[in-house]
Amino acid sequence: MSYYQVGSLEQYFKHYNKSLREPRKFWDRIADENFTWYQKWDKVVEFDMQEAEVKWFLNAKVNITKNCIDRHLAKRGDKTAILFEPNNPEEEAQHITYNQLYDRVCKMANVLRDQGIQKGDRVCIYLPMIPELAIAVLACARIGAIHSVVFAGFSASAVASRVNDSGCKMVITADGGFRGSKTIDLKGIIDEALEKCDTVENVLVVKRTNTTINMKEGRDKWLQPLLEEAQPNNVAEIMDAEDPLFILYTSGSTGKPKGMLHTTAGYMVYSAYTFKNVFAYQENDVYWCTADIGWITGHSYILYGPLLNGATTVLFEGVPSYPDFGRFWEVVDKHKVTQFYTAPTAIRALAKENWEWVNKYDLSSLKVLGSVGEPINEEAWHWYNDHVGKKKSPIVDTWWQTETGGIMISPLPFITPTKPTYATLPLPGVQPVLMDDKRNEIEGNQVVGSLCIKFPWPGMARTIWGDHQRFKETYFTAFPGKYFTGDGALRDEVGYYRITGRVDDVVIVSGHNLGTAPIEDAINEHPAVAESAIVGFPHDVKGNALYGFIILKETGEGRDRDNLMKEINEHVSSHIGPIAKLDKIQFVSGLPKTRSGKIMRRILRKIAEGDYSNFGDISTLLNPEIVEEIKEGKL
Ligand code: WTA
Repeated sequence: MSYYQVGSLEQYFKHYNKSLREPRKFWDRIADENFTWYQKWDKVVEFDMQEAEVKWFLNAKVNITKNCIDRHLAKRGDKTAILFEPNNPEEEAQHITYNQLYDRVCKMANVLRDQGIQKGDRVCIYLPMIPELAIAVLACARIGAIHSVVFAGFSASAVASRVNDSGCKMVITADGGFRGSKTIDLKGIIDEALEKCDTVENVLVVKRTNTTINMKEGRDKWLQPLLEEAQPNNVAEIMDAEDPLFILYTSGSTGKPKGMLHTTAGYMVYSAYTFKNVFAYQENDVYWCTADIGWITGHSYILYGPLLNGATTVLFEGVPSYPDFGRFWEVVDKHKVTQFYTAPTAIRALAKENWEWVNKYDLSSLKVLGSVGEPINEEAWHWYNDHVGKKKSPIVDTWWQTETGGIMISPLPFITPTKPTYATLPLPGVQPVLMDDKRNEIEGNQVVGSLCIKFPWPGMARTIWGDHQRFKETYFTAFPGKYFTGDGALRDEVGYYRITGRVDDVVIVSGHNLGTAPIEDAINEHPAVAESAIVGFPHDVKGNALYGFIILKETGEGRDRDNLMKEINEHVSSHIGPIAKLDKIQFVSGLPKTRSGKIMRRILRKIAEGDYSNFGDISTLLNPEIVEEIKEGKL
């Protein structure tokens, strides 16, 4: 196992260098020593980064759930695998052991098979953060169905477009979901979504809130009675290393969300290896990641990574502010959490509250703190370090993406000296490079550029579902032969990386990636709107918030502006989801455009930020006079 876990800084450099010199040998050994295979690979990796074709562990046969569950049963059968902490602190927590998880996943897998789901079918999972979500995901993986988890905060039309894009045959949902003091009508949203989908044959419904719902005859079934009738054991499907494991949608800079496709063996090896090292997980630790399983962080670091390592992973249904701002810390205290992984937006929201909320609880169990999803600002970093970690728990600022499958750049706790706002060093096996505008690699330190990865790693997405061309164009053409992350970064004097943010048209709001194009599309559908442009601007809590510049049609001109703003935001909410609401809306008579008709967003971004110092070259603008006008009308 020692090769699997890095033990010192010296060893980190040793492993890192080995992974550079002999990447095949490096991954071969990790995959070989730490997993159960039906059959090993003929070749470790085969790739063509020009064509965006990558394969790992060729011809190996494996099932990820055998590795997540079955192989732990002998040693850890009675150990808690999933520790479920409900939204309401009065409701008792559930400790689901590895034995129980095995039973529940097998039964669920049998239900899926009984309902006609076969290897390769797509299943949409639209569930709140309850044990059934984890079980449904694992049950799909067990029978080789491709899960597509859609975050249960997305609107009906967002669900419909995702279900249609991947042609899901089944939806698994719940009557409703609890979120803080609210109850969300999940089944109602699914009913509305499915009016626009014709591939879905069955909808399985988990009972959670006891909300009265409609059950469509012949399509909808309660899950519980099916589970009660299901056979207890399930023979896992034998999967090829490159068989698809899941699709997860992420925003793109053009309208349609991208269904990132992850495959089986590479993702398994990578999520397991990175979890073990980045969180320094030890056998009796209680690990908690506060993300939702609807995002990649939840896939890799609530479910797969921890379970592959036989860990105890907390599944939290609630929100940090309910019933009060001490909830996170109450849960840490109650379950003696040792690793705590959250997002800067949550840290900033909690840091705004009285720090007595933190001091009320005993946080001495904590060993490692993690951050993910967006750059963590210095103030939030210090608050996290001082008040939560009491300056004794290292912060791992983990940089990665839906596309990368697992953490790419991060300190290793107790090994890599941390530096506020820096993700520090690449993990073994990861080869980051900074590129300049002329597509040259920038050598040396104290430099900034576009962050690319120049060698494949096992966890990387293999394609965009149904659109390999778009995959290639989005990630492999800006810098031919390299994977382009869409992020800018700087490398300091010792080689530490700091991620400076997106260089494309994606804005990260409260840790959620939002493509500006789909939001603009939604706004433009409003009958009073002619055209719009969305940019991000800095926000105390959310990191970024959305600022919309909107041109009205003549018919909209006479309307009450406050009402219009409300309507537009409701429109965005119902098309994309409440997270995409605009914080500011400015009505303008034109947008700065280049001669080729492209909106010059960097100018709008500067105006939204209130920075008028240097607009750069605006000589290519068709209508430079509009810049002054927008500036004057700024909110
Ligand atoms: C940003 C989340 C700075 C980045 C796992 C990336 C970060 C995007 C960090 C991916 C970090 C994520 N520091 N920026 N530690 N982690 N990002 O796909 O812009 O939801 O490209 O994956 O989040 O977001 P995604």
